[in-house]
Amino acid sequence: MFVMHKDNTIIRMFRVSKRYGKMEALSDLTLEIRNNEFVFITGPSGAGKSTMIKLLYMGEIASEGAIIIDGVYMERITRKQIPHLRRKFGVIFQDFKLIPTKTVFQNVALVLEVLGVKPKEIQPRVMEALERVGIDDRAGELPPVLSGGEKQRVAVARAIVGEPKIILADEPTGSLDPDSASHIFQLLQEAHATGTTVVVATHDQHMINTGHGRVIRLVKGHLNPDDEARRIERGMDP
Ligand SMILES: Nc1ncnc2c1ncn2[C@@H]1O[C@H](COP(=O)(O)OP(=O)(O)OP(=O)(O)O)[C@@H](O)[C@H]1O
Ligand SMILES: [Mg+2]
Repeated sequence: MFVMHKDNTIIRMFRVSKRYGKMEALSDLTLEIRNNEFVFITGPSGAGKSTMIKLLYMGEIASEGAIIIDGVYMERITRKQIPHLRRKFGVIFQDFKLIPTKTVFQNVALVLEVLGVKPKEIQPRVMEALERVGIDDRAGELPPVLSGGEKQRVAVARAIVGEPKIILADEPTGSLDPDSASHIFQLLQEAHATGTTVVVATHDQHMINTGHGRVIRLVKGHLNPDDEARRIERGMDP
């Protein structure tokens, strides 16, 4: 029986597996992420990084095991409750996933509309988020005219505007030049500094080496046992 403790763990995965047909993308994964941790998920292509991110925001459902987000058991969630739980997350993707026919402002405002924020509060909150990422001067433009780095800044604004507890990012710098990548990384660190838990799946070794995050390595759907052994050696609890 899995006992839920009242502590500062915000993400708990317990014996989670995910299969796509016969392919096991994640195998028997158990890990905990604390409130306000900065975590890198790394590992070779096909290791299960994106799958893990998708399970966390319920883009996919686990084949086995339990996922508990901020004390809420995902398995017991009904379809109707999913939007409520998704509010805990801001999600950033490698390919931005902005709506090309809506302006930068509208893309970010949409989050607050879905959250039911009062219309008169939307304008100042969107502009504040756009200022934080340094793209407020492009508010009226459509995403297709922006550079990759600019689009990703809009995606970061969209991820932070709802003040989520957790930011999930899947290869957020994967298609960016080094300067844009380091700017996006800096924005993630700023979100972390204001209390947000940040989970980033990335191949970007430079980002991992220069950051102060915990590194979780996946290999063929398994946690790299060496990482955990090293953590225990260093006296760090899981
Ligand atoms: N929808 C799907 N249907 C079938 N197989 C899938 C699906 N999504 C992922 N997989 C498989 O699951 C495994 C893990 O994929 P995943 O996308 O999580 O890897 P990844 O670590 O994110 O890789 P990359 O670094 O290339 O992004 C891969 O073998 C992949 O082919
Ligand atoms: Mg991936």
